[in-house]
Amino acid sequence: MYIGAVLKNIREEQGFSLLEIQRSTGIKESQLCRIESGSRFPTDEQILILANFYNIDSNQLQIQRDSDKVLENIKHFLNQEQILNVAKQKLESKGNYLSVAADSLPGATIPLESRRYIGCKQKLIDWIFDIIQHETKNIHTATDIFAGTGVVAKKMLSLYDKVIINDFLLSNNQIYKAFFKNGKWNKKKILKKIELYNSLETATIEDNYFSINYGGKYFDYDMSKKIGWIREDIENSKSELTEKEYAILLATLIYNIDKHANTLGHFEAYIKKPIKKSELKLRLIDVKEFENLTIYREDSNKLAKEIKSDLVYIDPPYNSRQYCRFYHVYENLVKWDKPILSGVAMKPPAENMSKYCTSKAPEAFSDLVKNLDAKYLAVSYNNTYNSKSGSSKNKIKLEEIEEILNAKGETKKFAKDYRFFNAGKSDLENHQELLYITKVK
Ligand SMILES: C[S@@+](CC[C@H](N)C(=O)[O-])C[C@H]1O[C@@H](n2cnc3c(N)ncnc32)[C@H](O)[C@@H]1O
Repeated sequence: MYIGAVLKNIREEQGFSLLEIQRSTGIKESQLCRIESGSRFPTDEQILILANFYNIDSNQLQIQRDSDKVLENIKHFLNQEQILNVAKQKLESKGNYLSVAADSLPGATIPLESRRYIGCKQKLIDWIFDIIQHETKNIHTATDIFAGTGVVAKKMLSLYDKVIINDFLLSNNQIYKAFFKNGKWNKKKILKKIELYNSLETATIEDNYFSINYGGKYFDYDMSKKIGWIREDIENSKSELTEKEYAILLATLIYNIDKHANTLGHFEAYIKKPIKKSELKLRLIDVKEFENLTIYREDSNKLAKEIKSDLVYIDPPYNSRQYCRFYHVYENLVKWDKPILSGVAMKPPAENMSKYCTSKAPEAFSDLVKNLDAKYLAVSYNNTYNSKSGSSKNKIKLEEIEEILNAKGETKKFAKDYRFFNAGKSDLENHQELLYITKVK
């Protein structure tokens, strides 16, 4: 262990004997001997005492000791360097370990959960479903009415007989068809297309709609040329593709480029720094087929009047930030009618703007809840109503949610503290994720 050698070196350089250190610090000579010989690690307290005595940075000593501990843990494994490398990527992925796993396993498909999406409930899924399972009974049909990434619906598919999934964004709808829809598709045909896309040479590709608009902004210029070419090819091949195959190619494109997007996870803005060059190598998404799933792309308030479901999970936008604006690049990529884009963020004309991001949100929520024919409602929301930043402020007050839900049935409230990484904005320090369960009267 290097920490021992480091400490021994410092002691000898400063000319102290072990006995002198024992007298000055109170750490027994025998313990010091074991630390320096590497047969035990110094404790946090011993590090502080020794750093103080030798007048060196205790933090650096701690890092030396902890990295020794990591090495100690992996010393019996083969491929130690690869293990450390993957661990580093996992750290850098800020918890998005699934995408790192997919990247490091050749042939592995990309999981649904690996997409960056504001408000995605993946990290809360066990907490949400532990509560739902405990608080509800006899659920056969479940609905995810503001489905976003679809991770909640995916969980429902593992628990209930029938699932309904809905979101009004075009890109989300294609993603659900690709990952979940029961439909004909030929894996060989799709892999051949992916192989063709991966063999493209950028130098031979001409400028196109995607590169002209987004090149050097959301994606590096060469990569945008490839993305534009691939998208055009998918459209030109549409007549030879089944509905499922078309969706698989679009979702595969979105999921692969998402990792390269020069953003903080949404397209309200791009990072104003030179973009690191990287290669776009497409990998197939994790295609599944479920017979017991119905996919909708409707306004949730309209759909609420049309469906009957034992459980409805409601996870609307919480603030003024519109999802169609957050993910306008994917909406535009899927729609592919190539409109003129405007502003620094290069947005297309607005479409699918949600009432839940406006002052009409309480009214919309009340109407939705009133019209739902369900045994149970599960509502996710958070407590940022008092946020100093206008755009992070909740559009519906918690009292309003509670009043509306209480009128529908007996309602319980559950809260979970949630670390919110938001560039140090202290008003979000007490951020809590809330889950309401209503047993409908
Ligand atoms: C908070 S996100 C849901 C996140 C989702 N639970 C997940 O884990 O990924 C809210 C979603 O509602 C959708 N949405 C907003 N207003 C809608 C409306 N009126 N009808 C249908 N979908 C809507 C947005 O497109 C967005 O994907």
